[in-house]
Amino acid sequence: MTKHVLPVKPDDAFKSEILAGLNAWQKKISSKWLYDDVGSHLFEAITELDAYYPTRTELGILEKNARKYSRLPGARGAMVELGSGSSRKTNLLLDACPDLSVYMPIDISTNHLREAADRIRRAHPSLAVIPVAADFTQPLGQLPLLPELPVLVFFPGSTIGNFEKSEAAQLLKNIRTAMPDATMIIGVDRPKDEKTLVKAYDDPAGVTAAFNQNLMQRMNRELEANFDLSSFAHKAIWNAEESRIEMHLESLCDQAVSVAGEPVNFLKGETIHTENSHKYSEEAFAEIANEGGWRVLDQDSDKKGLFSVYTLKAV
Ligand code: AVJ
Repeated sequence: MTKHVLPVKPDDAFKSEILAGLNAWQKKISSKWLYDDVGSHLFEAITELDAYYPTRTELGILEKNARKYSRLPGARGAMVELGSGSSRKTNLLLDACPDLSVYMPIDISTNHLREAADRIRRAHPSLAVIPVAADFTQPLGQLPLLPELPVLVFFPGSTIGNFEKSEAAQLLKNIRTAMPDATMIIGVDRPKDEKTLVKAYDDPAGVTAAFNQNLMQRMNRELEANFDLSSFAHKAIWNAEESRIEMHLESLCDQAVSVAGEPVNFLKGETIHTENSHKYSEEAFAEIANEGGWRVLDQDSDKKGLFSVYTLKAV
C-alpha cells in the first residue's frame, strides 16, 4: 500500500473558484473540478468507449514508438507524469524504459493517485514511486526535490487541450521552470471532422453526460448545493473558430439554484461552460510549445492522423 502521498494541494479552492465562475456572465467551471473520485472513475470509463478515440489512438502511437522514446535522455532517470491517468499508458512506457529509477505521478485526485501508484508499484517493484497530490495548473515550486537525475515528463491524454491557449503556454513554462533540462512526451489531439468529435464528447451510452453531470452532484455533496440534475442537459459543441470541443450544462428552464448558501439564477437555455478540449494542428501546437519554452524534436501520429505524440526539449 502507498502510505505516503505528498499533499501539495491548496485546499478549499473549490468553493471560491466555483462561486466566482457561477457569478460570471458566461457561467463557467474549470474542467479540473470534474475529477473527484467519481469523476476520475467516470473518465476511466470514457477512455474505454468506442466513441472516444483519443485513448486507444494515443496508446497505439506510444506502443509503436516506445523503443524510440526509451532512448530519450530522461528515460534513464526520473519520469514525472502529469495527471496520473490510465495506468495502461504509463505501464507501457515504464516497461519500455527499464533503466528508470524514479516515477513521480502528479494528480489533483488523491485517491485516484494512490490507486494508480499502487498499481504501478505492483507492476514495477524496483522503481521508486513518489506520488504527489497537487494541482499542476499552479506553479510547481513546491514539488519535492528530484534526485540529480535526467527528467522525462510524460503528459498524455491531450490534457494540455483543456487549457486556453495562453494558459497552455503558461503551464508549459511552469513545467520548464520546475524541471529545467527535461525532455517531454506530450499527447495532443488533432482537429478532425465535427461528427467524430461531437460523438467522442457526447457518446451514445451517456457516460460523458454522466461525467459532466457529476459536477452538479459534486456541488450538491460538497457545497450544499441543490442542483436538480434532470433540469440540466449535457451539451458537446464544436467551436470551429477556437478549434475546440466545449462541454456545457444547459438549463432546461428558468430556475434558481442555491450553492454554498448563495442564489444562482438560470434562464432557460443558459449554460455553465464546463470544459474546453482544444484540437491542435502541428503548426498551432509548435507555436504554443515554443511560447512555453520548449522545442519540438519529434511528432508521431497514427495512420488516420487523429492524434499526435510530440517529443519536446526544454530550451
Ligand atoms: C482529460 C483531456 C483527456 O478533453 O478529451 C473526455 C477529458 N472530457 N471527455 C478530453 C474529457 C470529456 C479529456 N482529457
